[in-house]
Amino acid sequence: MLKLHPNYGFNTLAVHSGSAPDPSTGARTFPIYQTAAYVFDDADHAASLYNLQSPGFIYSRLANPTVAALEEKLATLEGGRGGTATSSGHAAEIIALFPLMAPGMEVIVADKLYGGTINLMGKSFQKFGWKAIFVDTEDPESFQSAITDKTRAIFIENLANPGGIVTDLEEIVKIANGAGVPLIVDNTLATPFLSQPLEWGADIVVHSTTKYLSGQGNALGGIVIDSGNFPWLGNQKYPSLSSPSAEYNGLIFSETFGDLAYTMYNHAVSLRDLGCTQSPMNAWLTLNGVETLPLRMERHCSNGLALAEFLEKHQNVEWVSHAGLKSSPYFKLGKKYFPNGTGSLFSFGVKGGYESGIKLLESVELFSHVANLGDTRSLILHPSSTTHRQLTKDQQIASGAGPEVVRLSVGIECVEDLIADIDQALNNLR
Ligand SMILES: Cc1ncc(COP(=O)(O)O)c(C=O)c1O
Repeated sequence: MLKLHPNYGFNTLAVHSGSAPDPSTGARTFPIYQTAAYVFDDADHAASLYNLQSPGFIYSRLANPTVAALEEKLATLEGGRGGTATSSGHAAEIIALFPLMAPGMEVIVADKLYGGTINLMGKSFQKFGWKAIFVDTEDPESFQSAITDKTRAIFIENLANPGGIVTDLEEIVKIANGAGVPLIVDNTLATPFLSQPLEWGADIVVHSTTKYLSGQGNALGGIVIDSGNFPWLGNQKYPSLSSPSAEYNGLIFSETFGDLAYTMYNHAVSLRDLGCTQSPMNAWLTLNGVETLPLRMERHCSNGLALAEFLEKHQNVEWVSHAGLKSSPYFKLGKKYFPNGTGSLFSFGVKGGYESGIKLLESVELFSHVANLGDTRSLILHPSSTTHRQLTKDQQIASGAGPEVVRLSVGIECVEDLIADIDQALNNLR
């Protein structure tokens, strides 16, 4: 019988955690529980499930066995207490904040982020009455100065999209601890193979599982993972977790569920009401993807660095932003937080600006022009004409997506083929 020892290494846990053989059939690959609902034993059983008095499944909007297997696997790999899988990475950002925020409350947000997240937090959050205060990723002091009595969380990407930017996590942890608010880290670009923010003292991790975790660009999804360490009990800033819940007979989540309070709330309230649940099929694809995460990440990192080194010497390239390059201002921080590599997403500035960026995309043959990252295939993108196009010019530049910027997500193909392709496309610019 499969028995997982707590001291097993990352690669073993990536394969085995959360996905034991199916006890009823012996199926070795975790089954896809493609069902909307679950039969109650009797009326008492149904009542105890609805009252959150016993564990189990009611309806797949709240929880599903295949999705739960993914939650367990990723919580294990991140060193967290519990997970809530969501329909997308964006949904994970909303679900991460839902138990913490209320109209009029503020979240401090780093300005070097995926463009979609800047839009979501800067614009759509206003419709919920949530206020995002953007601060300078590279200046921890700007986080400190933004703290008010309305601050309910701090949100950063530790390795920021569009690439090559490393946040000084330890400094931001200190500020969050001092302010008594949770630090939420988007760990999408690093994955738990390269970095485990909870170990550095962050409280909550979010992922777009659409990227390196599923690994093949075939399943949209997200996840929120809680460390279980934040003191919600009796904490008046967070009434959802510290006050009696009328809909659950006066139950106080932090009192009843202890270090699982945040995760239980997210299943029992956030997913129940917002409905942005991950589908069993996508959870299953991602479960299988994560099994090969360590192998893929090693190749992603070595290919990415080799390409960055090549581009740095190319006559048609102005600059390269990859934290693994000695020339990078983030080289030292990269070595500290990502000793096994700084991923495969990075950006560079092509000579000739916007027009050259567009021409480059149209000249590559092996790279796919795609608004995604973390695929086995190498991908190329011109952020200012695509993912960051809805931002103002200033926001584009502030988030590292100016007109000359080209972003690569380097895949796991033969690196010499990738270099040859980008070389011919760059040489084609003149
Ligand atoms: C760092 C990061 N976070 C979140 C997201 C949003 O994820 P999704 O597209 O799965 O909603 C993305 C998407 O590119 C991303 O790069």
